[in-house]
Amino acid sequence: MITPDPNRYDGRMPYRRCGNSGLKLPAISLGFWHNFGDVDDLDESRRIMHRAFDLGITHFDFANNYGPPPGSAERNCGQILKKDFHAHRDELIISSKAGYLMWDGPYGEWGSRKNLLSSLDQSLARLQLDYVDIFYSHRPDPDTPLEETMGALATAVQQGKTLYVGISNYPAAMAAEAIDILASLGVRCLIHQPRYNIFDRWIEDGLTDVLIEKGVGCIPFSPLAQGLLTGRYLEGIPTDSRAAKDHGFLQQEAVTQKIKAVKKLDEIARHRGQSLAHMALAWILRHPAVTSALIGASSVAQLEENVRCLDCLDFTGDELKAIDAAAAILS
Ligand SMILES: NC(=O)c1ccc[n+]([C@@H]2O[C@H](COP(=O)([O-])OP(=O)(O)OC[C@H]3O[C@@H](n4cnc5c(N)ncnc54)[C@H](OP(=O)(O)O)[C@@H]3O)[C@@H](O)[C@H]2O)c1
Repeated sequence: MITPDPNRYDGRMPYRRCGNSGLKLPAISLGFWHNFGDVDDLDESRRIMHRAFDLGITHFDFANNYGPPPGSAERNCGQILKKDFHAHRDELIISSKAGYLMWDGPYGEWGSRKNLLSSLDQSLARLQLDYVDIFYSHRPDPDTPLEETMGALATAVQQGKTLYVGISNYPAAMAAEAIDILASLGVRCLIHQPRYNIFDRWIEDGLTDVLIEKGVGCIPFSPLAQGLLTGRYLEGIPTDSRAAKDHGFLQQEAVTQKIKAVKKLDEIARHRGQSLAHMALAWILRHPAVTSALIGASSVAQLEENVRCLDCLDFTGDELKAIDAAAAILS
């Protein structure tokens, strides 16, 4: 059992309404894609979870396949949740997802009713929870009728295995259709989880309009472009960084391609009196569609640094233009 900081809700972490729903999420949420698997230092993983809670981060985001190996992030953190956070379950929003490859055979991925509902049961067992707060369809499935995938999400709510549902990586038109199908089944689509950062702005091309119009929240993942939009790679590729690790999803070529832009963005951030990580997160949070920025952290120090972005969230028009120009620089 933990003894959390009694001041964790003192106003330093803002809670923002998720679309038109009744649920508020912290401006910064913590993701468990990397840093919580069997390959990681679980003592640090546990410290990150404790510190996050003390900092007012009430939302932890999982998926069935996070690790490596797949499933290990849910299993490792399930033990920590049970041991340390059991008394605080009602203060936490815990999400999971299904859709990417998780087990052998025709039902281990994508968007069938069979995959989603079986995967949710597996996630609950690994997390040692009776329910999650948000369950997502992790990616659109071109071969399964959208009615079936959304029907499975609605069933998960009716079964009491999740309180809310969401979609992730759905393009604008498909997201609009999915949101409407869920509504016709009497279930609100709470949230969309897309990739969004200074380098990857696809959601601005239609998706954010859909989400605002339909009152659905938005929680962008990889807001720091997996660490590129921090000081991590300014002097090369550190051996303990995501880009250097075999199981890390950040390609070294992406670092090489973007490093000139990153250095220019770092300059702009310094002129604003903040770090590049702070500026990248503030930039996400400036968008009216965005509820929360979903970060990753491999250490308590990174987590603490990232939360400090909340000290300076405003941008001038000139700063935003300078960021646009810097983001377009090719190395
Ligand atoms: N729905 C989806 O399809 C999907 C896909 C991807 C992610 N997600 C979710 O989004 C979450 C966040 O994604 P992400 O991990 O790519 O986010 P991110 O915040 O863009 O990148 C996190 C990584 O950047 C580095 N970093 C973070 N803060 C730093 C700092 N202050 N200084 C230096 N380096 C720093 C760390 O990598 P090092 O290891 O180099 O220290 C950290 O693990 C995931 O955990 C997951 O929950 C969802």
